Amino acid sequence: MTDDRSADWAAYYEKLRDRPPRRTLLTALDRFGPASAGSLAIDLGCGDGRDVIEILRRGWRVVAVDAEPEALKRLQARPLPAGSDLTPIVARFEDVPLPLGVTLVNSSFAMPLCAPDDFRRLWQRIRDALPAGGRFAGQWYGPRDSWVGRSGMTFLSRDEALGLLDSFDLEMFEEEEADGVTPRGNAKHWHIFHIVARKREDAAPQ
Ligand SMILES: C[S@@+](CC[C@H](N)C(=O)[O-])C[C@H]1O[C@@H](n2cnc3c(N)ncnc32)[C@H](O)[C@@H]1O
Repeated sequence: MTDDRSADWAAYYEKLRDRPPRRTLLTALDRFGPASAGSLAIDLGCGDGRDVIEILRRGWRVVAVDAEPEALKRLQARPLPAGSDLTPIVARFEDVPLPLGVTLVNSSFAMPLCAPDDFRRLWQRIRDALPAGGRFAGQWYGPRDSWVGRSGMTFLSRDEALGLLDSFDLEMFEEEEADGVTPRGNAKHWHIFHIVARKREDAAPQ
């Protein structure tokens, strides 16, 4: 990341600090239920950890990945729940190996921040890494998002997104389109898919 980009993300973390965990994550954790405490999750593009803290609070082990050292510095400076088992990794999620035994892959507002080929390769790895019954939670971006055309980002039509999820049962697939403002105060048209998906027992190896 460039210094400018890093400064942008630092301002983002500061602005959104203390925000609650994402609804996609909460839905996935609720679906797993308390019996899944002790299981392993990875959070790709975790930022300063608004979701990571909640996963830890529910007793899961967490691998937290972000390309920005500042994100993980802030995460580790947070008060972590007692007994937390957290492995922070500074890396691009396109490159990071997915840990053996991962049951939940969470990526809130982060996975679209890589180029289409990388996105597809990463999704293939996520699909392969998850066991039957494992879940993906996060957001992908649609083609009417006003960031379309930015390099190094991925936008998917509804049909493309559903196609990529074809070996999953959809527990949430909500399409949101709205005019709004980014955390940095810029006007933006959002086109977002909010996803919670559970890998099917009969999912064929890809
Ligand atoms: C919009 S923030 C979302 C942070 C957090 N998941 C949340 O929901 O608040 C996106 C995060 O993804 C990270 N990020 C962007 N591209 C990345 C990449 N290719 N690999 C790893 N992290 C990346 C950024 O550093 C940033 O912390």
